[in-house]
Amino acid sequence: MNSIQNCLIKKSSTITPIWLMRQAGRYLPEFRKIRKSNPNFIKLCLNSNLSSEITLQPMRRFDLDAAIIFSDILMVPYGLGQTVEFKKNRGPVLSSFNMNKFMNNTEIQFTNKLKPIYDAIKKTRKKLNKKKSLISFVGSTWTLIVYMLGLKKEKNVLDIKKLKKKSSEINLILKNINYFLTIHIKNQINAGADVVQIFDSWAGLIPNKKLEEYCYIPNKKLVDFVKNNKTPVICFPKGLKKKYRSFLDIVRPDGLNIDYNIDPEWARKNLEGTCLQGGMNPKILLTNKKKIIEEATKYLKIFKDSPYIFNLGHGMLPEINPNNVETLIQCVKEYK
Ligand code: CP3
Repeated sequence: MNSIQNCLIKKSSTITPIWLMRQAGRYLPEFRKIRKSNPNFIKLCLNSNLSSEITLQPMRRFDLDAAIIFSDILMVPYGLGQTVEFKKNRGPVLSSFNMNKFMNNTEIQFTNKLKPIYDAIKKTRKKLNKKKSLISFVGSTWTLIVYMLGLKKEKNVLDIKKLKKKSSEINLILKNINYFLTIHIKNQINAGADVVQIFDSWAGLIPNKKLEEYCYIPNKKLVDFVKNNKTPVICFPKGLKKKYRSFLDIVRPDGLNIDYNIDPEWARKNLEGTCLQGGMNPKILLTNKKKIIEEATKYLKIFKDSPYIFNLGHGMLPEINPNNVETLIQCVKEYK
């Protein structure tokens, strides 16, 4: 059992392991070099040699306890027939959702389309030190719906008119996507992933009266599936504020990533009973050595006697200097 699994399964608090969301990405010059000659992001995710190489890049530089497979939550909508483009300053843009096309998908077609991801996991597991975890992931139902139906306006607010207009599409996806998400999870576990993280990045946009239906129930279905496959599972329902408590009560994941708006003291007192992960604002990594050590030590102190995996409250930013990441990891590793 590696240190991440130990924390998630045995709830051990003797050491604090560390990995970072988006640890493979644009802040690394070696990533930018590969990215420059691979302008199509989806194609890059489907190049198993390159995606495995990118997954391993941060592992060579830093003493991280887990690698996370280089892929994207939008590979599932892609596997189900939507095209996915990344437009500068606009984020991902998907082709319009077609109910008939969506309903005609089969397990075999879907798995074949995403096969390079599973190959990349196999290749990475072979090269990765046994003491290191290999994390795979999926986007949760609601967050995928937001992208599949384009429900977000600029500035990250929900387009309420569209939400109402698209209710039949929302219900269709809610009812049917779980099947494909569980296939994707199972394929990743079979390929060698030993932890699964479920990203519900836009959980904070869900109207209160829909939280149960759009967030808790779909996340619980995925968590139960991963647990039934004897694999630890971490949830990241970003933006839920105090509702993190109800999420934990209902969904019961092995690990729960808190975002940077959650007060860590509140989390320690109110989110007991699971292994917590993350929290520190990624913007701290844009400052200096002193501030990074101060802020990381704050989290380490607060979670000293409870099961905790060090991570951030959201993904790494492209502007972060890799030397600051080194400072952070050293601080976590040397903390007693
Ligand atoms: O964490 C890792 O290192 C593993 C790889 C990973 C990526 N995306 C690679 C990526 C993971 C775990 C994700 C998850 C993901 N993707 C989420 C959930 C986490 C979160 O950020 O809330 C979401 C919402 C997405 C959808 C997505 N993909 C967005 C919003 C973007 C950024 C668009 C932009 O222009 O910045 C992507 C692209 C993406 N996914 C990049 C990377 C490294 C940047 C690609 C590039 O331009 O080089």
